[in-house]
This record gives sequence, C-alpha cells and structure tokens, in this order.
Amino acid sequence: MERISKKRFQKASKSLSNLKICVIGDYILDEYLIGHVNRISPEAPVPVVWIRKEEIKLGGAGNVIKNLNTLTTQMVVMGRRGDDTAGEKLENLLLEENVKPIDLLLMKSKEVPTILKTRIMAGHQQVCRIDREEILSIDSEEEDLLFKQIELKIDQSDAIILSDYDKGILSPSFIERVTKFCKSKEKIVTVDPQVSHFFYYRDVTILTPNHHEAGKALGKVLESDEDILEACQSITEKISPQALMITRGEKGMSVYLKEDSSIHHIPTVAREVFDVTGAGDTVITVFTAYHAAGLSEVEASIVANAAAGVVVGKLGAATATVDEIEEKLNELNVWLKDE
Ligand SMILES: Nc1ncnc2c1ncn2[C@@H]1O[C@H](COP(=O)(O)OP(=O)(O)OP(=O)(O)O)[C@@H](O)[C@H]1O
Ligand SMILES: [Mg+2]
Repeated sequence: MERISKKRFQKASKSLSNLKICVIGDYILDEYLIGHVNRISPEAPVPVVWIRKEEIKLGGAGNVIKNLNTLTTQMVVMGRRGDDTAGEKLENLLLEENVKPIDLLLMKSKEVPTILKTRIMAGHQQVCRIDREEILSIDSEEEDLLFKQIELKIDQSDAIILSDYDKGILSPSFIERVTKFCKSKEKIVTVDPQVSHFFYYRDVTILTPNHHEAGKALGKVLESDEDILEACQSITEKISPQALMITRGEKGMSVYLKEDSSIHHIPTVAREVFDVTGAGDTVITVFTAYHAAGLSEVEASIVANAAAGVVVGKLGAATATVDEIEEKLNELNVWLKDE
C-alpha cells in the first residue's frame, strides 16, 4: 500500500493559500431549470415542465476553479467566452465563488457564444438538455493574445492546469506552444487530455486520462494491471510525461513515473458512491495543488484519490475541502507509521 507522511500532508495543506494556479481551458456555464410535470403538452406528446427554480453553475474548466477555490489557492482564469449574457453570468459566477482574488482573463469572442448547457429538470429527473455552443478552434489572433497573457502570468504562477474539453481553446498548435514554453520555464503543467489531442501533450508534468481515454488513444481496451502498465509504457515512450495517472473509476488510479519506470496502484477509497460527475476535475486539481505545494507525484496522487473519494460521495459536481481530505486519509489509515 502506498503511504504518505501526515506531517508532509499538513505542511503542504498550510501552504495551499499561498499558491497561484493558472487554469487554461474550456469554460462552460451549466444551467438548471427545475420544476414539476403535471400534464402533457397539447401541442406535442411531450411533458410540460412548470419551472419553479433556476440555478447556474460553473462547468468544464470552471469546475476546476471551483475545486481550487475550495482548496483556497489563488487562481488565474484563461480561456474564452462569448459576447453575450451567458458570458456575463459566467464571469460573475467566477468572481462570486472565489475566496482569493482571481485574475479573470477570458477573451470575448465575436464568433462563438459562451458554452451553455441547460438541463430541464422535473425534480431530480432530467427531461432534456439544451446545448448552445460552437466548437471552433482559436484562430491565430486569439492564440497570440492567449499566449501573451501566459507570458505575463507565468512567473507568478506555481502551476498550470490545461483543462481540455475539446471546445476549441486547446488547439494542437496552441498545445505545442504552451507546453514548450512552460517546460522552458520549468513550471508544473498538468493535463486532463481529450483523446483527439492526446499525443500533442509532450513533456508535461502529468497527464490524467481515465482508462477509457487512455485505451482509446492507443486503440486498446485497458482492464488488468498489466494492460495499464503496458499502456503507461507506450504513452510515456511517445510523449514522455514525467508522470502518467490513469484513473480507473471504482478501481481508483494507477500512477506511472518516467524517472524509474515504476507503477503505483492506488485503490479507491469511496465508501458510498452517489455521483461520479466531476471526479476527474477534483483529481487533477488536488494533484496539481499538492504537487505544487511540495508533495511528490505519488504523494499528491494519494491525496487526489482521497479527494475523489470525498466528492463521489456527494451529489452533483462537488468539491473537497482540506479537512474532508484529511479525514478521508485518516479513515484509510494511509499515514506512514514511524511518525
Ligand atoms: N464508482 C466509483 N467508486 C469509487 N471511486 C470512484 C468511482 N468513480 C470514480 N471514483 C474516483 O474518482 C477518480 C476519477 O474517476 P474516473 O476514473 O471516473 O475519472 P473520469 O472518468 O475522468 O471522471 P470525469 O467523469 O469527472 O471526467 C477515480 O480515480 C476514483 O478515485
Ligand atoms: Mg475525465
């Protein structure tokens, strides 16, 4: 079993609020229209939902921000929004939620609307989802603008998270440019990759695909520990991340280190599972923050796995506080014995 020092965890936890983490990616606004159904429409054979409540939430890269906020780090937001009301709502929500001052650097696009996903809910039952989005890669002008912002912010950032939902911010040419630049600056860069972009992410600190995504990238199905090890070796040969974390749903996660070709299996810690939505965002966020705070890749993965165990026990795309993570680590008895 992989273990971690309680003192090191607590020391890292204390320094989280001094960290500044930059999240570059696809920001999404999630909208919920919640009501009751008590009749069928006279116009078509569909239910009529009588809306009683409306909610908006941060989605996509915004969910990473929500997770960072819970950890109390400082944040830089980089991405794109539309020139529309949804974009204003998205910005307000980003500003509202934060504990620490936040650098809000969303480019306002004339071409694409703010990505808005509206769920019509009858109680807890989703009736339908309405998506408003145009998936359009950033053009060279937007890419230059974004890159300039990164050049401005990189020295004050402790780590960069690339949150790729395949909506256009992380175009292949931008991925290459940003990963090379971060490497030259020796910055921690962590990536939750899309399958279609998988092999563009070269030389990053860590990639955190789930086992389906890693398998798809290689054209294989990954089930056993051997399958996972082979996949890690083959991905590492191709794009050389310092570490590769493959999340495995109810099996937890496996972390492969390039430096000594070692693999570390970290079993799941969830006692009760209510909702796995957003667990991937929690994993990359908590890993990045704790690695930037001084924990090794494996130590930070143990902490991220515990955090995922916390959020899957809550409803919706939830987040985990430092206290909840520590409680989960206590429960698991993962502390090194000699302290
Ligand atoms: N059913 C489950 N039971 C227990 N733990 C789980 C379960 N699903 C996910 N987890 C925890 O969450 C982590 C990430 O989950 P998963 O592998 O499903 O990532 P993902 O598919 O990228 O998630 P997302 O849907 O948020 O993108 C796992 O490593 C594990 O710790
Ligand atoms: Mg995921």
